[in-house]
Amino acid sequence: MKKLLSLVLVLTLAFSLAACGKTATETTAAKADATAKAGDKIVVGIVQTNANESDWRTANTKSFNEAFAAAGFETKMVFGEGDHAKQISEAQLLIQEEVDYLVVLGLQSAGWEDVAKAAKEAGIPFIMADRKLELSEDLYTAMVCSDFAAEGAKAVDWLKAQALASYNIVVLGGDTGSSAQLGRSKAIEDGAKANSWTIVFNQNMKGWDETLAKQAVADLIAAGTKFNVIYAENDNMARGACAALDAAGITYGKTGDVKIISFDANKWALQNVFDGKFNLDVECNPLHGPRIVELINKLAAGEAVEKNAYVKEEMFDTATITQAIVDARAY
Ligand code: AHR
Repeated sequence: MKKLLSLVLVLTLAFSLAACGKTATETTAAKADATAKAGDKIVVGIVQTNANESDWRTANTKSFNEAFAAAGFETKMVFGEGDHAKQISEAQLLIQEEVDYLVVLGLQSAGWEDVAKAAKEAGIPFIMADRKLELSEDLYTAMVCSDFAAEGAKAVDWLKAQALASYNIVVLGGDTGSSAQLGRSKAIEDGAKANSWTIVFNQNMKGWDETLAKQAVADLIAAGTKFNVIYAENDNMARGACAALDAAGITYGKTGDVKIISFDANKWALQNVFDGKFNLDVECNPLHGPRIVELINKLAAGEAVEKNAYVKEEMFDTATITQAIVDARAY
């Protein structure tokens, strides 16, 4: 009965708004208003990447579920499972189901225009979280993302400061075309060019996969490829690389022959930094749940929001890490 009531409210308002040529934003506000008036739960559609992509992704999904439940939102979460086209069709389905807000974490940064346009026409705010997508400002309401280029730049600056006798770098990239991979890979590629470093291997691992990363490094060792830096674009792949080095009896980390650079800064990974196994871990913070709740509540209240918000992130190396930092880690 409530659904029917809010539908009637939406349709009446939409027709009256359309009749008087209201914009998408006003349609959005009317829709939110109708939902509030009908006392319905706010329904949020989340278009997530893969369920078990990495420890980071697991923490990210948990953050959404917990924060949305605490906020009293109804959550509809769908997964792309490594397939961009699947993510797009799942997103279109959520729009047809008339969710009140659409939150997208894209496997790929490109190819979201049609979904964003459909959401706009339906008066559904399109929010980007984690990964910025290639969309013009008029096609999305707001974003809360990581600055992957800045993350990569931190790693390159740290690497330069090590003043190694030589730089032979293995790049273990994330999912091809994701803004996380694009930003981090471009940083090390530009850094290598600018500093005359050698990238001896540069490949993306489908699904950010730890086992694929381990196999890639094992193959390099078997081929006799000389390297002294591993630039792994997330913690799971860094751990995979270390397993291959262990198997070959090659030393790494604080006192080893190979420097290990990682991204995400999960708790277990920071313990590896503290224990001297990883040299550097650049934070990518997955705890977007509360941030998106705050954003949606502001939008629902008709308040202004920051259009392009980047998450504040740190980095941790063997010189700065403490056990207290590790113990205090929330993910
Ligand atoms: O988008 C963030 C990236 O996605 C993380 O660095 C990686 O671990 C995750 O799967």
